[in-house]
Amino acid sequence: MQLEGKKIIVTGGANGVAEATVRRFAEEGANVVSLDIQDESGERVAREATAAGPGTVAYMHCDITQQDEVNRVFDAATQLLGGLDVLAAIAGTEAVKPAEDLTGEDIDKMIGVHLKHTVFTNAAAFRTMKDKGGSIINYGSHVAITGHFLDMSAYGAAKGAVQAWTRNVAREWAEYNIRVNAVGPAVWTPLAKRMFAELDTDTKQAFTDYFAWNVPLGGDLGDPLEPAKLNVFLASDNATFITGQMLQVDGGQVFAR
Ligand SMILES: NC(=O)c1ccc[n+]([C@@H]2O[C@H](COP(=O)([O-])OP(=O)(O)OC[C@H]3O[C@@H](n4cnc5c(N)ncnc54)[C@H](O)[C@@H]3O)[C@@H](O)[C@H]2O)c1
Repeated sequence: MQLEGKKIIVTGGANGVAEATVRRFAEEGANVVSLDIQDESGERVAREATAAGPGTVAYMHCDITQQDEVNRVFDAATQLLGGLDVLAAIAGTEAVKPAEDLTGEDIDKMIGVHLKHTVFTNAAAFRTMKDKGGSIINYGSHVAITGHFLDMSAYGAAKGAVQAWTRNVAREWAEYNIRVNAVGPAVWTPLAKRMFAELDTDTKQAFTDYFAWNVPLGGDLGDPLEPAKLNVFLASDNATFITGQMLQVDGGQVFAR
C-alpha cells in the first residue's frame, strides 16, 4: 500500500476524477475526507470506498467557493483525520460561451469554482501542513495551455490562474516541505459527457475525429482512473522531489509548459 495511514482531503469526491481518486486512495490505505455539494452521490462513494477498504472515507458537504465554509469544514475534517498529509483539490465545472458574450457573472462563476476554490483550500491545508510538510494536488487544464475549439475562454483563463497559483505557492511553501503540483486530465467523466451531449451531430463528429488524430495513446479521452493513479503517486512518498509541475494525463495530447 502506497498511502497507508495518510490523512487526505479530496474536493469534488462525488463524481469523475475525484470519485476515482477517493476510491484509489482508500484502496492504498489512506483515511480520506471527501467534500462535495452533491451529497447523495458523495455519501454513496464514501460508503462504498470504506466498505472496499482498507482505508476509510468520510463525506462532508462543502461549497468550495465559500471561504468561511471551507475553513469550517477543513477544521472539522483535520480534526476527524487527526492531521493532514495531502490535499487533492479536484472539484470543478465547465463553461461554454463565446468570449465576446461573457458577463461578469460568467467570469465570477469560473473564478469562484476554480481559482477561489484552489486558493481557499490550499490556504486552509497550509495552516495544518506547515509544521510537518505535505502534498497539494491542484487541477488545471489543457484549455489554459492550448485554448479549445469549443468556446471555453472563461474556463481556460480560470485554469491558467490555478496553474500560475500552483507555481507560486510551490516556491513560497517549499521551505515548509509542502509540495504543490497541478494535473491536467483528458478523461470521460460526467463533466466531459455533459459537454459532449450538448454538441450538434457535426461537432460531435469533429470532436471524435480530433481525438482520433491528437491523442497518440488510444485516440480518445481516457478513464478517470488514469489521473487517479497519478494522484496516488503525487500523494505518496515516491514524489518527494517534485513540486511546481503541471502534469498532463491525456494520452499525449498536450505537452504542458
Ligand atoms: N474531464 C476532463 O477531461 C477534464 C479536462 C481538463 C480539466 N478537468 C478538470 O478536472 C477536475 C475534475 O473534473 P471532472 O471531469 O471529474 O468533473 P465532474 O463534473 O465529473 O466532477 C466535478 C465534481 O466537482 C463538484 N463541484 C462542482 N462545484 C462544486 C462546489 N462549488 N463545491 C463543491 N464541489 C463542487 C461537482 O459536484 C462534481 O462532483 C475539474 O477541476 C475539471 O475542471 C477535467
